[in-house]
Amino acid sequence: MKLTDTHCHIYSEYYDDIAEVLKKSRELGVERYFNCACDGKSMREVLDLAKVYSDLIPVIGIHPEVVDTYTEEDMEFLKSHISDNNVVAMGEIGLDYHYTKENKDKQIELLRKQLKIAEDVNKPVIIHSREATNDMIEILKDYKVRGVIHAFSGSLETAKIYIKMGFLLGIGGVITFKNCNLKDVVKNIGLEHIILETDAPYLAPVPHRGETNIPGYTALTAEFVANLKGVSLEELTKITNENIRRIFDK
Ligand code: NI
Repeated sequence: MKLTDTHCHIYSEYYDDIAEVLKKSRELGVERYFNCACDGKSMREVLDLAKVYSDLIPVIGIHPEVVDTYTEEDMEFLKSHISDNNVVAMGEIGLDYHYTKENKDKQIELLRKQLKIAEDVNKPVIIHSREATNDMIEILKDYKVRGVIHAFSGSLETAKIYIKMGFLLGIGGVITFKNCNLKDVVKNIGLEHIILETDAPYLAPVPHRGETNIPGYTALTAEFVANLKGVSLEELTKITNENIRRIFDK
């Protein structure tokens, strides 16, 4: 049984040879890649790439970092393609107060608009939430949506709230970093609540920390989590694939 990377950004802007990156990733035991868009340009690119590589599965949405620059045309593009058969989810969408809180209201408006669309077409959502936990929890409560909290890095208490709401937690390479409290969180929650991801090209796991990440490194995070939880890699693969199936398969 093979692993899935449930969150990566495989764009030509980051990788010179995408075919090679995917080949290497397959060799490492990772066979499917949820390719998450962030803006108008990447939405178009992930859809185009999926025509060439069937294992590069498109996820489309508008990221809070482009809240001041996305266009109405981008929003229309999202609306007209979110129901495409091969689009597995909407993402990545969310709130990011790390750099500025000044455009908070606009971020919330953009997020709500997209959550409404996802709810209407019954697609799961891939959520980016950075330094915005309270707002995110309150907003998600207003919609009937399912999905994943990508790159989860909160407390055990926050993890339990999201789990109670039916969300999965996306765990990536950060868990392999020294002095990372995510280890204690994952130790204390059931495997039925997590899925694995890379966020490639960012956040490569140990021993590749600081290098360009690739989807294949999901295998390193999987090994780490399997050890942490005292299960075999096969068992972890089986459970996380079942979690993916539950949330992302129609
Ligand atoms: Ni991402």
